[in-house]
Amino acid sequence: MAEQFDVVVIGAGPGGYIAAIRAAQLGFRTACIDDWKTAEGKPALGGTCTNIGCIPSKALLQSSENFEHAGHGFAEHGIDVKGLSVDVPRMLVRKDKVVRQNNEGIAYLFKKNKIAFFHGVGSFAGGTSGAWQIKVEGSGAASLTAKNVIVATGSKPRALVANSEGVAFDNRLILDNDGALAIPEVPTKLGVVGAGVIGLEMGSVWRRLGAEVTILEALPVFLGSADEQVAKEAWKLFTKQGLAIELGVNITKVTAKKDVAVDYIDAQGKQQSKRFDKLIVSIGRIPHTAGLNAEAVGLELDERGFVAVDADCRTNLQGIWAIGDVVRGPMLAHKAEDEGAAVAERIAGQHGHVDFNTVPWVIYTSPEIAWVGQTEQQLKAAGVAYRAGSFPFMANGRARALGDTRGFVKFVADAKTDRILGLHAIGPMVSELVSEGVVAMEFGAASEDIARICHAHPSLSEAVKEAALAVDKRTLNL
Ligand code: FAD
Ligand code: NAI
Repeated sequence: MAEQFDVVVIGAGPGGYIAAIRAAQLGFRTACIDDWKTAEGKPALGGTCTNIGCIPSKALLQSSENFEHAGHGFAEHGIDVKGLSVDVPRMLVRKDKVVRQNNEGIAYLFKKNKIAFFHGVGSFAGGTSGAWQIKVEGSGAASLTAKNVIVATGSKPRALVANSEGVAFDNRLILDNDGALAIPEVPTKLGVVGAGVIGLEMGSVWRRLGAEVTILEALPVFLGSADEQVAKEAWKLFTKQGLAIELGVNITKVTAKKDVAVDYIDAQGKQQSKRFDKLIVSIGRIPHTAGLNAEAVGLELDERGFVAVDADCRTNLQGIWAIGDVVRGPMLAHKAEDEGAAVAERIAGQHGHVDFNTVPWVIYTSPEIAWVGQTEQQLKAAGVAYRAGSFPFMANGRARALGDTRGFVKFVADAKTDRILGLHAIGPMVSELVSEGVVAMEFGAASEDIARICHAHPSLSEAVKEAALAVDKRTLNL
């Protein structure tokens, strides 16, 4: 006899687990199915983000940054460190502990919200609108029926194709994000394919720990989706740190034996070859729908394999919704979470809403990069008249005290109405500062509004206020 639920969520990544919590809060009898397991076979809630994405990468970024500070930054503060060394296995144990704490946190939230959790692979077994049948296979094997199903099955890494030949991940020499987060000792030479978010973050981790890192990027421009001024500054700073980044390359062959040989044609059209101890491939991610048995109910996928949805995450089938990385839009944890909450609210007849224009982007390099809204180049292309104002951290007291004056904050605002159209930043803790731009945009603020708001002194947030003042060419501290 199948167990009946109002809402069944397939996948417990940030999209799925938040959807389940919000559905339970709204009074629905809710179940969540997830197949992720630890090495011991236990459930590991939180999906890609918690297990092999956002959380472990930030743990390693922090550990490696501490190491870099101790080695290169402390002396200036009058702190001498002798006999500095790095113990990678211990660093990985800490990272795993941080992951486990997050897994357990989500399990606690499921209990608190009385969400029924089923450990295993969830697939469609048939049914019709109003009574979808879901089968769970695994340690939590069960048959469920639900009026509403939320598909939140996430994404997986895209494998490289070199000259029509697939280059399979083995996570020994050719690493995906999982392997990149678990290299047991610092490689002497590390290759990275793709100068995107993962390439820059993981490349930074292993460079700080001592690897010679080369990033090979297909596009001729660096960080094409970021503001051009930010991308230019990032290029200057990252290459100075020692990341070797080659743009416009075409990888023609990858041979993995004892090490990895990568043959490629460089931007000048010359054939090149490089050898690495390990090669991280981070060239984007693809939707994960395998195992879902979408065909059983006729759930429509689009031409790229994503579950096809409308702006409100409705699929072609009544009562079946899809959210997060498995649908169109940015592949970000907070986008998945917000879609999850919004869908639960729509099921309850409310009007949940996610505005892609105010979804912030953060790259957790050093310095960090963060932005929200439109870039200058997008505004120019759209023919929108705007004013821009920026302020360097060099002129910010808190940044000087921190010892990190790299980068700047920039606002772009409509030339006529002064409404804020975007915030772009590179510098210390801009992952936190970008929220002010998000709030401002959501409330339809003008740059003048931010310029007139009292910001604590000394704080990095004063750079945000000063950038707003700069839109009207009246900075006070520059
Ligand atoms: P996922 O997190 O992928 O979760 C899907 C879950 O569903 C998984 O547990 C999967 O096993 C399970 N599942 C799949 N199919 C089935 C099935 N049939 N039955 C049962 N369970 C199933 N984003 C950020 O915003 N900030 C960051 O700092 C960040 N860092 C990242 C770093 C790395 C290295 C990577 C790879 C990604 C990072 N991301 C980051 C992206 C972020 O991880 C994803 O956008 C996010 O996890 C998507 O959430 P989701 O819920 O859609 O899917
Ligand atoms: P990405 O889309 O950020 O970058 C991939 C890069 O690889 C691009 O620059 C692309 O031009 C390049 N590329 C593609 N094919 C190539 C080839 N054959 N040879 C060389 N270069 C090639 O994807 P990435 O870094 O894999 O990350 C996947 C997603 O995960 C991101 O888009 C992001 O949504 C998410 N993520 C978010 C993070 C954050 O928010 N801080 C951190 C890490 C990942």
